[in-house]
Amino acid sequence: MPFVFESGGHTDALDLDVPHLGAYVHVPFCESLCPFCPYHKERYGNGSLMPLYLDAVTREIESVLDDNDMRLTSVYFGGGSPALAGEGISHILDAVRRHAIIEGGVGVELHPRDVDEQTLKTLLEAGVTMVSLGVQSFDSASLAALGRSGDPSRSRDALRMLAGVGFDVIDVDLIFGIPGQGADVLARDFKQACDLGATQISTYPFIDFSYASNRHRPVSEGQKRALMSELLRAADVNGFERGSVWTFRRRGTAAYSSVTRDNFVGFGPSATTLLRDQFKINTFDVEAYARLALSGKSPTAYTLKFSARARQAYWLFWSCYNMDIGRTRFQELFNEDLDAAFGTPLRFARLLGIAADAEDGYTLSATGAYLYHVVEQVYTRQYIDKTWRASMAQEPPRRIVLW
Ligand SMILES: C[S@@+](CC[C@H](N)C(=O)[O-])C[C@H]1O[C@@H](n2cnc3c(N)ncnc32)[C@H](O)[C@@H]1O
Ligand code: SF4
Repeated sequence: MPFVFESGGHTDALDLDVPHLGAYVHVPFCESLCPFCPYHKERYGNGSLMPLYLDAVTREIESVLDDNDMRLTSVYFGGGSPALAGEGISHILDAVRRHAIIEGGVGVELHPRDVDEQTLKTLLEAGVTMVSLGVQSFDSASLAALGRSGDPSRSRDALRMLAGVGFDVIDVDLIFGIPGQGADVLARDFKQACDLGATQISTYPFIDFSYASNRHRPVSEGQKRALMSELLRAADVNGFERGSVWTFRRRGTAAYSSVTRDNFVGFGPSATTLLRDQFKINTFDVEAYARLALSGKSPTAYTLKFSARARQAYWLFWSCYNMDIGRTRFQELFNEDLDAAFGTPLRFARLLGIAADAEDGYTLSATGAYLYHVVEQVYTRQYIDKTWRASMAQEPPRRIVLW
């Protein structure tokens, strides 16, 4: 079914009275820009835009979270490189806490170069409990093929420091399918992350986004498939279990999951929001975003209005990513029985060996997870390419159609 985004947004307040609401804050600055990365960010330079960004994002939070009795499952900071905001993280969290109780943890994405004594102190004082370190690979040749600057020993030191502090969740991002990165290199990357204290390892297939400026293309899908089998082996040997199609967790530890959630509200340039009947994307340009947020207007650039059925299908798609299609969760979210809504496709998926029965609903089989991995790469590439292109155009189109 096609998903259609219309430019602009609603003028009404967002309906945040939804189960399991999480929050996401996008910090769109990086010290240097990695050629493979499609996420929205600008060069930090002398940091001149940071005060404007911080004023605008706290203002957006204040105007969206106007209820004083809200509950948020978690707050995640992503980017970009959120640590560049320094004490700003604490100010943003103060704004959130003035309106909401954060019941679970606070997570922050970190570039290895961000990790030092001062930053860790700032994060701990702000109440950060979960971190995600963008290692990509501990292998110099793989980093060079990606065009990622930095020395792998810096990533190792950073991970040791994070483990020493004892955050509840320490995620390490790895990329697989980099040209020249054999299965042995990937298995070594996985093991090093485990040995140095990761509680979760996110393993993303290298995707060649049209926004990126990759000098080397990812390996073929067939080679990625072999590498995925290697990851399953490495997880098993190191005592990690699969938490989703692309993540593995040390047994008994919690997940780092910023936007694969039932409902979330996003703040900052390019941040997205997913609620009962809509998905929206904020304006990308930092100054344009700030002008809107500071004048009390919604900084929404595009909104997708879901029909009830499309919203359920969207939930099903992301539940497949988490390999957990929960019956109770579906009932709670949609007040409907999962089998009444999706009984036929789910039975069919079981017959084909894509899905299997679980205690409370269904799970994806290894074959199902592989198929999902193929589809998800196509979906992510199209979603990012189309929405980013439209959002950054001089004359943005009125509609974006996905599929
Ligand atoms: C917002 S980014 C990075 C956070 C942090 N700034 C850093 O560089 O460490 C989140 C993750 O997306 C993944 N990623 C970025 N570009 C990718 C690509 N082209 N293909 C696959 N994964 C990618 C990387 O693993 C990265 O750590
Ligand atoms: S990978 Fe991280 S540091 Fe590199 S451009 Fe993307 S967000 Fe910035």
